[in-house]
Amino acid sequence: MKIHDTIAIIDFGGQYAHLIATKVRRQGVFAEIRQPEDPIEDFRQYSGIIISGSPSLASHGEDADYTKEIYDLDIPILGFCFGHQEIAQHYGGKVVHGGREWGSSALQVSNDHPLFSGLAPCETVWMSHYDSVTEIGPDFKEIGVTLTPDGVAEHRYAAIASDSLKRYGFQFHPEVDSTVNGDKMIANFIYEICKCSPSWSMDGFIEKKKIEIIKQVENKSVFLLASGGVDSTVAAVLIGQALGPERLHLLHVDNGLMRKHESQNVLKLFEKLGLGTNLHFVDASDTFLEALENVVDPETKRRIIGDTFIEIFEVQAEKLGISEHLLGQGTIYPDTIESGGTKRAEIIKTHHNRVPAIEKMILQGKIIEPLVELYKTEVRELGGLLGIPSEALDRHPFPGPGLGVRLLCSNGNAPSSDFKNIQPLVDEIAKQFGVTGLALPIKSVGVKADLRAYEYPVLISGDVPWDDLIKVVSSLTSEVDDINRCIWNLGPEIPKVARPLATSATRERLDILREADFIVMDTLKSNNLYHEIWQCPTVLLPIEFDGLEGEMVIVRPIMSERGMTAAPVALPPSVLKKLTRRILQLEGVSSLALDITSKPPATIEWE
Ligand code: XMP
Repeated sequence: MKIHDTIAIIDFGGQYAHLIATKVRRQGVFAEIRQPEDPIEDFRQYSGIIISGSPSLASHGEDADYTKEIYDLDIPILGFCFGHQEIAQHYGGKVVHGGREWGSSALQVSNDHPLFSGLAPCETVWMSHYDSVTEIGPDFKEIGVTLTPDGVAEHRYAAIASDSLKRYGFQFHPEVDSTVNGDKMIANFIYEICKCSPSWSMDGFIEKKKIEIIKQVENKSVFLLASGGVDSTVAAVLIGQALGPERLHLLHVDNGLMRKHESQNVLKLFEKLGLGTNLHFVDASDTFLEALENVVDPETKRRIIGDTFIEIFEVQAEKLGISEHLLGQGTIYPDTIESGGTKRAEIIKTHHNRVPAIEKMILQGKIIEPLVELYKTEVRELGGLLGIPSEALDRHPFPGPGLGVRLLCSNGNAPSSDFKNIQPLVDEIAKQFGVTGLALPIKSVGVKADLRAYEYPVLISGDVPWDDLIKVVSSLTSEVDDINRCIWNLGPEIPKVARPLATSATRERLDILREADFIVMDTLKSNNLYHEIWQCPTVLLPIEFDGLEGEMVIVRPIMSERGMTAAPVALPPSVLKKLTRRILQLEGVSSLALDITSKPPATIEWE
């Protein structure tokens, strides 16, 4: 069956594949991410296909083992960067390793081609490639070349087309904002070439989803775990509006891993949203903390938290006499992709709503996830249309496992023998920048070359400008194996000896973290920084310095678009001072640092 007017984005692992999908949707046509090895049957239903960029080299035949039968389909295909090169190569062209371009380029276009209709003869586009197309096959023509600053053609075949085959390629990335009229080029492809009609809008989505929800739930009810986060709140309101509040049971579980006052605030919010009819609350913190006792490994913690949620949910459902129900979840599109399972998306982390127990329920048709096709920005837009107040929609993202991924645990053992080799290398690099660096004997999660990396952080001490700090981070994380993060010491002392403390998720530690997190949020809000920052986790690290009693708090303010990548934020010195004064006064805390690492190589959460 043909899915009308949907574009498939084949994700070859370039960071921009999701951006392409978002950009297509913004033009009013639905887009889905597909994997290159998906069966050919799955592709027949689309109105058009876009092949993404990739870290692989087309010139070396890398990642060439994909479903090439797509080229036999009578569906328009447009490739970006690696995708462009693959198309050129497949139809008899040549791709070589060379002709690198990076950043903005001037592209001279053939305006008479529909892909460039409505555009100027010369367009600013964004390039990022090592390989280039040097010859095109017999059915193709060149429709764009990049120019030198003097207007001389420099790189041939920057855009190619075969109208008879309906195959097209752009060496540049129209999906990034630096390609000034990239949106128009994408719109031209989907409307002029693929002949789609605009069929995707948030209003249309709401109506379609409500019908689907009614159909899927039949005469049952939905039971939804309402954390108070944006996604589950929007899912609750949508389901509530579709079925009526009496058929939606909301369960807010205090898992002991919540922020300060969070449960009270969440309950108030749902009352305000008119979903108080079947609003249930359970304080299950004892059950969660017992299950997490002595657990140190981050993935095990995640699994236990996910499984305990299900257990609590089942017990509560039984207590409330709701036997015929579906479990509602606010899962969004990237959640389903980040949990991995395909060749390219290596498991970065197990998402709390993709643990095995949930996967099993999905197969049994017992889960309802109305937002599973949406990106976060779309969820916020949807929430606004459903009448959810902005203070509930514009909150920083908060992970499902809550403070559980911000409270690091340790068995207190000395690290493995290779840890000793790290410090001399750290000293050498730190000295070059006039700072000191101390490798810390506890690992946190990171991501290097799209793979999960569980490695050590370095504590940098020294009063140097932000740009220099970032350079130190870059040198340390790229030159020293086993280092994936750097933090900047905000305390008055320069620690010399760090010792891991044997500890797991206890209530006392969570209370300390809750208080530190409260101080961070309060400081950001009172300094008008909360909405300037995408997210700001606060982390408790079981490390003791120089025999001083108390753990380390780490503050991680970041900027991000979708949480896939992140950049550290330089908070103003006056704000750092306030944070330092308040946090170092907390009982059980002896040191404070700012996480100054980007993602990659670190992840946003420490786990
Ligand atoms: P990482 O740590 O992988 O996080 O860089 C990326 C974004 O995802 C959030 N996060 C989660 N959100 N359930 C969620 O709903 C989870 O299990 C989960 N783990 C991480 C994280 O806060 C960041 O915004």
